[in-house]
Amino acid sequence: MTRSKSLAAVALVSIGAVLGAAATHWWMKRPEQVRRQFHLLYHKLGSQTFNNTRWLGVPAQKCPLDMWVLQEILHETQPDVLVETGTYKGGSAYYYASLFDLMNHGRIITVDIEDQPEKPAHPRITYLLGSSTGAATVAKVKELIRPGEKVMVLLDSDHTGSHVKRELDLYSPLVTPGAYLIVEDTHFNGHPILPNHGPGPWEAVQEFLTGNAEFAVDNQREKFLLTFNPDGFLRRR
Ligand SMILES: C[S@@+](CC[C@H](N)C(=O)[O-])C[C@H]1O[C@@H](n2cnc3c(N)ncnc32)[C@H](O)[C@@H]1O
Repeated sequence: MTRSKSLAAVALVSIGAVLGAAATHWWMKRPEQVRRQFHLLYHKLGSQTFNNTRWLGVPAQKCPLDMWVLQEILHETQPDVLVETGTYKGGSAYYYASLFDLMNHGRIITVDIEDQPEKPAHPRITYLLGSSTGAATVAKVKELIRPGEKVMVLLDSDHTGSHVKRELDLYSPLVTPGAYLIVEDTHFNGHPILPNHGPGPWEAVQEFLTGNAEFAVDNQREKFLLTFNPDGFLRRR
C-alpha cells in the first residue's frame, strides 16, 4: 500500500470513530428516544423476545423486567390471593406460584376463556374457564376469596379498551387497600407499540382513574425503563 493510501485509510477510520462516538453521545443525551426505540425493537422481534420467554419451561408472555417488578411487589405486599385474568399457557401463574412457594404464602386464581393443554398443575394455582367479564366467572372468583384476605388483581386477557374497562369495574372492588391492580399491555395503541390498535388497556386505565380516586398510578414500578405496563401499575390507597 502506498503512503498516500495508508494515510487515507487512517483518516477514514478516524472519521468513522469520531462519527460513532458522536452518534452514541447524541443517543445517550436522549434517554426517552433510547427507551422508546428499544421498546419498539423488543416488540418487533417478538418471536425472539416476549413470545420466546419461559418460566421453568412454560411460556410466559411477559417482559422479564416486569416479572422482576412483580416479584418485588408480591414480596412487599404479601397478598393472600392473586387474581389473574388471561392464563394463556399458565407460565405467568406458574411464576407467581413459584414465588409464593419461596415465600410460603399466597395462591393464584387465574381465568381464561380458552383451555390450553398442558398447563402446569400446582397446588397454589386454581384455573377457571370462562370469560373474565362473565357473571358466573366473577361470582366464582368472589366465592374463592375468603373474608379478610389481602387481594391483588392482574388483568392480562382481552386487550381491547372496552373489555379492560369492564374488567376494571368488575375486579377493582376486590383489591384490598395497599394492594396492586395491574393492567398489562398498556403499551398498546402507540404507548409506544401498535399505534393503530385502537383504544386499549392504557385508555381503559385513564377512563377508570377519572372518578376513581381510590387508585393511583405507581410509576416507580417502571424503574427498569422497559415495561409492557406504562401507567399500568395501580395501587389502592
Ligand atoms: C396475553 S395472553 C395471557 C398471557 C399470560 N398471562 C402470560 O403472561 O403468559 C391473553 C389470554 O387472554 C385470554 N382471553 C381473551 N379474552 C378473554 C376473556 N374474555 N376472558 C378471559 N380470558 C380471555 C386468551 O385466551 C389468552 O390466553
